[in-house]
Amino acid sequence: MLITFEGIDGAGKSTQVMKLKRHLQERGREVLALREPGGTPVAEQIRELLLESRNDITPAGELLLFSASRAELVQQVIQPALEHGSDVILDRFYDSTTAYQGYGRGLDLGMLAEINRIASCGLVPDITFYLDLMPEDALMRKFSEKSLPLAFESEELDRMENSGLDFYRRVRDGYHKIGGENPERIVMIDALLSPAEINRKITESLDALCAKAH
Ligand SMILES: Nc1ncnc2c1ncn2[C@@H]1O[C@H](COP(=O)(O)OP(=O)(O)OP(=O)(O)O)[C@@H](O)[C@H]1O
Ligand SMILES: [Mg+2]
Repeated sequence: MLITFEGIDGAGKSTQVMKLKRHLQERGREVLALREPGGTPVAEQIRELLLESRNDITPAGELLLFSASRAELVQQVIQPALEHGSDVILDRFYDSTTAYQGYGRGLDLGMLAEINRIASCGLVPDITFYLDLMPEDALMRKFSEKSLPLAFESEELDRMENSGLDFYRRVRDGYHKIGGENPERIVMIDALLSPAEINRKITESLDALCAKAH
């Protein structure tokens, strides 16, 4: 099964990926947890290019770099793992491209859909958990995590994180549209709930999905 996590930076994706990985492993599943961009030697080099705050990258360049990283990860790691029968949990997948480069940066959504299909080799998640958080709350989490004074731009944040509050508002609105268009795949969860409550909602959704499949 391919399970993906989406949401703006600081929404709690990585926290939930680790919890879910442990939960599935306890049930005897073989689980691979990966985060985008990255996950292969080439994809990790692309990740560094994308997140380095001194790099000035155009929206089209950003789109193609994220997509190149995804193509590497899908073909070299995700597809082989799924064929082997493992569960794969992804911290971000192509919905991030639609939300960030489409709704956030303003690139054409039809073009993005085509590039997303190429980069993901047509692979569609079985289920996607979208953790919904206001950008202001996400920013507070980031700064308390790094023990920094609150500011909307900082050398301590990566290139994407330094894109500003309006950008993150567009990204969040974009995620809402994507969720509305894919109700059968995307489960929206209030990210202000406690990590344990969010984990419970996630495992309940997965149980319901498995019951439906059998
Ligand atoms: N449900 C929650 N309630 C309160 N704080 C949380 C919750 N989930 C995670 N956090 C805290 O918020 C911060 C961000 O969480 P996390 O790293 O899991 O988010 P993320 O979505 O993976 O962020 P990024 O996109 O930057 O990787 C961490 O300090 C984490 O401990
Ligand atoms: Mg994370």
